[in-house]
Amino acid sequence: METGLLHLHSFIRWIALISLIVMVVRSYSGMSQGRVFSKADNMWSLLTVISFHLQLLIGFSIYFINGWHTQMGNMGNSVIRFFAIEHMFGMLVAIALVTVGRSRAKKSNADGRKFKRHLWPYAIALLIVLITIPWPFLEVGAGKSWFPGL
Ligand code: HEM
Repeated sequence: METGLLHLHSFIRWIALISLIVMVVRSYSGMSQGRVFSKADNMWSLLTVISFHLQLLIGFSIYFINGWHTQMGNMGNSVIRFFAIEHMFGMLVAIALVTVGRSRAKKSNADGRKFKRHLWPYAIALLIVLITIPWPFLEVGAGKSWFPGL
């Protein structure tokens, strides 16, 4: 089950990342072109939040199953520090940003403001996610793959 969850977490990373990038681009273009906030914009925003919340659930399951919470005394090891602290906290901040961004945007009736309320939280979340993913070319991502099963 552990491997299955890790594969799922690794796969959903792409849905989370792609929907986040699409939403940043759509928010910027929507704002600068004065577009109407469409059903498609809402769908991408929702997909981002759903995929991030799924990552939260699966991520914390792996966190406790694999015993990362028991590793707090090993902060001298950069890989342990990354998964036990940096990845977890970075992603929590990103998840909070997309959640708050979408909920604040939903409260606004003006299309321009809907885009603006998505843009900054989603753009900052994107930066954090890009920095705290254990990419295979990083030391902390050694042995990890670009795509589950490959
Ligand atoms: C959008 C948010 C997130 C993304 C994109 C993401 C992405 C990833 C990726 C790509 C991996 C490597 C998977 C592999 O190939 O083995 C990973 C591992 C992991 N992530 Fe996340 N993650 C997110 C959120 C979280 C959260 C909130 C937690 C909560 C603690 C978490 C905990 C973990 C753990 C424990 C591992 C595996 C370490 C191990 O090998 O045991 N992740 N994550």
